[in-house]
Amino acid sequence: MELFDQIEEAAAAVRTACPLPPQIGIILGTGLGSLAKEIEGAHSIDYEDIPHFPHSTVDSHAGQLLLGTLAGKAVVALSGRFHAYEGYSLQKVSFPVRVAKALGISTLIVSNAAGGLNPQFSAGDLMIITDHINFMGDNPLIGPNDDRLGPRFPDMSEPYSRALIALAENTALELGISVRRGVYIACPGPCLETAAEYRMMRAMGADAVGMSTVPEVIVAIHAGLRVLGFSAITDECLPDALQPADIGKIIAIANAVEPQLTRLVEACIERI
Ligand code: HPA
Repeated sequence: MELFDQIEEAAAAVRTACPLPPQIGIILGTGLGSLAKEIEGAHSIDYEDIPHFPHSTVDSHAGQLLLGTLAGKAVVALSGRFHAYEGYSLQKVSFPVRVAKALGISTLIVSNAAGGLNPQFSAGDLMIITDHINFMGDNPLIGPNDDRLGPRFPDMSEPYSRALIALAENTALELGISVRRGVYIACPGPCLETAAEYRMMRAMGADAVGMSTVPEVIVAIHAGLRVLGFSAITDECLPDALQPADIGKIIAIANAVEPQLTRLVEACIERI
């Protein structure tokens, strides 16, 4: 079955469960998990009940799509994300974004946990993503293009909406939450990177590194969505002072910044 028809089938199944068309899509990556609890009147649909949705075969948390209102806006939240390193194609990883677009969203909000490459950043910082580098060696748009979904050669001059970046910065200032801004580089993972790789990525102009987000953002731009992105800086990737990565500590820091990021995103949604 063609991708277009798969998207339509998945969207139809979601509409049957909840007819409310969402305006904003949110990928609840690391740092935004608790936003799910703030959604009012949420209808939840298990990913496994949506045709063609990727599902996790190993995780007990198979993932859920949540529809409801947040800060007065109709939203669809994707709770549970898929990564390239799990073995999913980038087309599969970004399929939920296609379905959210088919449901009616015009704006997508994404978040992730990332290593800080900018030496001015500290673990626990929040960063507004201003641009990205696709270092995954792959692209979700490879293959025949369906003009109903977007153009063959999508423009990438402004993947992260400048208007939304300004809105997020002003909102953070109002709330007294300090934010960084910077370029996110996506690596395929699953291993963390070497000191030589961090040095190279910093020289390339990246401020933060992770293993997600870029495939979903490429598809969002292809689909004509406006994107706002945040990174929770969970560790410091300084090539000349590199400590072994402590995954427990990375998760603990991601959880510690979650309340702030949740508050910021909710306030941004109110102002969109
Ligand atoms: N690399 C390094 N540090 C990180 C990453 C990564 O992909 N994700 C979160 N912290």
